[in-house]
Amino acid sequence: MVLFAALPAALATPATPAAAIVGGVRASTTDHPWMVAVASRSVYGDSRSGQFCGGTLVSPTKVVTAAHCLYDETTGERVNRPDLDVIVGRTDLAGSVGQEVPVVSTWVDPDYAMSTNEWDVAVLTLAEPQDPSSVLPMVAQGATAPYAAGTAATVFGWGDLRGNGTYPTTLHQVQVPMVADSTCAADYHSGPSGSYDGRTMVCAGLQSLGGRDACQGDSGGPLVVAGRLVGVVSWGEGCAEPGHPGVYTRLAAMADAVRGQL
Ligand code: ARG
Repeated sequence: MVLFAALPAALATPATPAAAIVGGVRASTTDHPWMVAVASRSVYGDSRSGQFCGGTLVSPTKVVTAAHCLYDETTGERVNRPDLDVIVGRTDLAGSVGQEVPVVSTWVDPDYAMSTNEWDVAVLTLAEPQDPSSVLPMVAQGATAPYAAGTAATVFGWGDLRGNGTYPTTLHQVQVPMVADSTCAADYHSGPSGSYDGRTMVCAGLQSLGGRDACQGDSGGPLVVAGRLVGVVSWGEGCAEPGHPGVYTRLAAMADAVRGQL
């Protein structure tokens, strides 16, 4: 299962190619202040500030990320990283601008199932409130319009640029169209990575061409449509492969449960 592929403790930082996230461009947390890194220096090392997942500031003290970011894929257990923090305002993880804010508590959707990747959402509570103007609003419960096939969405993260372990230090973004449920269900009906569940998931990517996608290390990060958080990077088979679009948590299916945590 292509889940939380544990990032190596010491990540190489090769020259950043023009293409990124996979197939994207560089982005800045100045333009997207709600984009945060979820990090643990004790587990993942200092070279990239300990980043291992992405997240989105949805209120001054709350970050939405993926549930699987808080689990150990091999043991299936929830991991407790004592120095878990959220990094705000740091586009380049090799630098030290911005703030490392400790996480004081975590909530995982009670229906999250690691074996199926369903309900892959979690909320982190920060030790210190952030600027209210840095928050990204969430999609409404039950909304369907943002998920219509072909809708332009943008995904952000510090993950692998090529699917081969090329981890950048700088933030990247790529635009990916929403993929129809029926298409994605056919793409992932019973693959090694999992099955697609249109109730709790949505796919985005260039379905037949490939070339643009989130990848390992982008998990937990935002999928944004029209200035709203609509999805969370969850899983996929490989990265940017034709016929295997990225799979995201469908936030509209659980927006009320998440709002109940804010
Ligand atoms: N599970 C991966 C992570 O932990 C994210 C995978 C996303 N893959 C994709 N092809 N969109 O970082």
